[in-house]
Amino acid sequence: MKIALASDHAGFLLKEHIKKYLEEKGIKYRDFGTDDETPVDYPDLALKAASAVQKGEFKKGIIICGTGIGVAITANKLKGIRAALCCDTFSARCARAHNDANILTLGARIIDRELALEIVDIFLNTAFEGGRHHRRIEKISNLEGKNNFGPID
Ligand code: RB5
Repeated sequence: MKIALASDHAGFLLKEHIKKYLEEKGIKYRDFGTDDETPVDYPDLALKAASAVQKGEFKKGIIICGTGIGVAITANKLKGIRAALCCDTFSARCARAHNDANILTLGARIIDRELALEIVDIFLNTAFEGGRHHRRIEKISNLEGKNNFGPID
């Protein structure tokens, strides 16, 4: 499995830490930047990694900013992307098992490095449960590209 990685300046150091962890585990990745702590705009970086996942070049992505919020909002604008912001291990497990999240977003200013690695590990190693969850994520997919949809019956 190859992972698409990206961060803004706030997430840069955590991204470097995660890269070391992936290397130790023998997991391949591509780093879409940023390359230092010089301020950048998080949507630009999130878009690079998320569109690589969207195109199917990578099965999963990990995108980091200060809170994980901005990059999640950005990535979720792309059709087929299910980006989940996880600040705890339970959310990480559910993001994969229930939501089939293909992108994990992390907040480098919210969680410490140790917890971030635990979350990454769960995100990479938890399978989608399918079943009733399949129907539910299909309902999400059906909303993609719609503007003024009404209640779902
Ligand atoms: C950058 O200061 C910060 O706004 C960004 O990293 C992120 O937290 C946005 O959601």
